Amino acid sequence: MVASHLLHESKSRGVRGMGSEIKVGPMRVLVTGGSGLVGKAIEHVVQQEGGKLEGEEWIFLSSKDADLVDVGQTRAVFEKYRPTHVIHLAAKVGGLYLHMRDNLHFLRDNLKINDNVLQTAHEMGVTRVVSCLSSCIFPDKTTYPIDETMIHNGSPHSSNFGYSHAKRMIDVQNRAYFQQYGHHYTAVIPTNVFGPYDNFNIENGHVLSALMNKTYKAKKEGTAVNVCGSGAPRRQFIYSLDLGRLIIWALREYEEIDPIIFSVGEEDEISIKEAMDLITKALDFKGKIHYDTTLSDGQMKKTASNAKLRRYLPDFPFTPLKEAIQMTCDWFVANYDIART
Ligand SMILES: NC(=O)c1ccc[n+]([C@@H]2O[C@H](COP(=O)([O-])OP(=O)(O)OC[C@H]3O[C@@H](n4cnc5c(N)ncnc54)[C@H](OP(=O)(O)O)[C@@H]3O)[C@@H](O)[C@H]2O)c1
Repeated sequence: MVASHLLHESKSRGVRGMGSEIKVGPMRVLVTGGSGLVGKAIEHVVQQEGGKLEGEEWIFLSSKDADLVDVGQTRAVFEKYRPTHVIHLAAKVGGLYLHMRDNLHFLRDNLKINDNVLQTAHEMGVTRVVSCLSSCIFPDKTTYPIDETMIHNGSPHSSNFGYSHAKRMIDVQNRAYFQQYGHHYTAVIPTNVFGPYDNFNIENGHVLSALMNKTYKAKKEGTAVNVCGSGAPRRQFIYSLDLGRLIIWALREYEEIDPIIFSVGEEDEISIKEAMDLITKALDFKGKIHYDTTLSDGQMKKTASNAKLRRYLPDFPFTPLKEAIQMTCDWFVANYDIART
């Protein structure tokens, strides 16, 4: 496994921070949003793939441990665990249609969560924070491929401007903490994530997982699948376990304050229609598929460049999409009772 090989290599080398040597371990890593799609993937890599090094402690939080919108609860949970490192994943997240209905709350809750986590990390002397941005925060009107330098170059798509502006402020805040205090707080920008423990809700889930649930339901009920929109928009999808491996690499090795895009290559971008083909094969669905073109497509594409990632990790092996969709569908069917539907 290349990722865990990288992790072990990083232990012997230490992580160099802008001129000074930062000792890697033993770390006490607090993962906010540890019960979600990405958090569960990191937990898997830490516990099952040798991602955790000797002497380290990893704590995975859910909203039950602390509501991070509340500064008092945020401070209390940091006091309890006294982390040296933080992976900040917690966010109010949702699918396209939920964002369109609720931009104000996506803005306010995420601004509060992010400020509470970053400021508390600062106050408690946390050495490194890796936060999670999203490729949907990039400007709507832009040139492609999008890269890390273009985050603030124009308004995000109107469908999710609340969430996007809150996420963009993490990057601004990271640079301010570095300028004022020299802190190494950085961010990663994944494209569309999917995998076990995703939100498979048909209304509010992410596109792939919602389509998996719709297709599974249609197969059971012998009906057609209704896909929202034309199926034409194109997306880069990243399997949650690949993302988990990359985030752990970033925590140990990535020295920049500027964010880094975590994505498969531009050549691996596929249309929703193509993704649907892979899902129907994985679930062995033989019924009809109807594309409802009266519904919004959202952004037609948001092709992101992974050139920076490839400069750091030229050989990182992304799981082939077909394989990752099959594993996610298998997980969903086997865990239907506990899956978020
Ligand atoms: N999924 C994607 O396609 C995608 C793409 C790009 C970036 N991201 C980013 O990746 C990160 C993780 O996303 P995900 O897909 O793993 O989301 P998810 O599965 O919905 O998980 C969200 C996590 O945040 C926690 N959370 C939500 N509100 C909270 C609050 N007020 N206080 C404390 N914890 C709270 C949830 O806890 P509970 O389980 O207790 O609710 C859960 O652990 C997010 O920052 C997201 O913006 C995701």
